[in-house]
Amino acid sequence: MFSRTTPIPFTESSMRTISSVREMQEFSEQARKEGKRIGFVPTMGYLHEGHCALVRKARELAQIVVVSIFVNPMQFGPKEDLSRYPRDFERDSGLLEKEGTDIIFAPSGEEMYPKGFTTLVQVRELEDHLCGETRKGHFVGVATVVAKLFNIVKPHCAVFGQKDFQQLAIIERMVRDLNMDLTIVPFPTVREEGGLAMSSRNIYLSPEEREKALLIYASIARLQTSVRSGERKATLLKEEARRILNSKEGIAIEYAGIYDPETLTGIESIDHKALYAAAVRIGNTRLIDNIILEV
Ligand code: PAJ
Repeated sequence: MFSRTTPIPFTESSMRTISSVREMQEFSEQARKEGKRIGFVPTMGYLHEGHCALVRKARELAQIVVVSIFVNPMQFGPKEDLSRYPRDFERDSGLLEKEGTDIIFAPSGEEMYPKGFTTLVQVRELEDHLCGETRKGHFVGVATVVAKLFNIVKPHCAVFGQKDFQQLAIIERMVRDLNMDLTIVPFPTVREEGGLAMSSRNIYLSPEEREKALLIYASIARLQTSVRSGERKATLLKEEARRILNSKEGIAIEYAGIYDPETLTGIESIDHKALYAAAVRIGNTRLIDNIILEV
C-alpha cells in the first residue's frame, strides 16, 4: 500500500525531468533511432498507487518509460476544480523515481498552449454520454491534450486506467480514427481497502464523506452479485444501484446506469457484457467509478 511517509530508498537513478516540447521530441526521436520501445503514462500528477501501477505496466512493456505531469486547463470547466486541483511535484517525482521512470515530462501551460493555439480534437458521440452530459467540452480538452502528448512523447504504447472508462474509450477511438501509430493499453482500476477507487480527488473527502463514498463500490459489488445470480434487466439493476447510493444522505447522483461498453448508450438488458458506470457528488467532490458486468 502506498504511504506518504514511506522513505524513498536511495538508488542510483538517471531519471530526468523535461519541460520543453522540443527537448522531449528530440529525446524520443533518439530513443526510437536506438530501437528502444517507449512506454507512456499521461497524468495530472498528485500520484497514487493507481498511477504507479500504470507506470509498472509501462515498465513491463517498454525500455523507456515516460510519465507526463500536466494539469490540463483545457479539460476543466469554468466552475470546476482547476485552481484547487492538488499538486505536489516533489512527492510525485520521488514516487516515479522509485518506479523506475526514465523521463518526467512536465511542461508549463504556455509550452503546451502557446499564443495562437486554436486546434481541437473532438471524438463525437462517445463524448455526449455519461460525464459528457454535465462536463461539456471536457473530452475535447482530454482528446486534444492527449493527441498533443502523443506527438511530443512519440510512444509505442500508452497505458490508461479503466477507472476513467469513457476517457479510455475516447482515446482508443481517437487513435483508431486518426491512424495514430501506437497501442493503447487499458489497466484495471486500483482500489483502496474497502473498494473506493483511488483518485487524486479522494484527498478532498472528509472522513464522513469517505464513508459515504464506499457506497459506490457497494453498488458495484451488489450489481456483480445480481448479474451472477441471473438478473439481466438493466432497469432493475439500475434501481438496485441507485437504492444503495441513496441509502445515506449527502450523495447526489449525477448518473448511475447500465450502458453498452462500445457506444456508451443506455441499454435495456444485458446480453453478454455491460458497463455499470456512476458519477456522484459528495459535498464538493465529484467521484466516478465503473465496472464491466459479464454474463
Ligand atoms: P489522471 O486523473 O491523473 O489519471 C492519469 C491516469 O491514471 C489515467 O489513465 C487514469 O485512468 C489512471 N487512473 C487514475 N486512477 C486510477 C485507479 N484508481 N486505477 C487505475 N488507473 C487509474 O486522466 C487524467 O489524469 C487526464 O485526463 C489525462 C489523461 C492525463 C489528460 O490530461
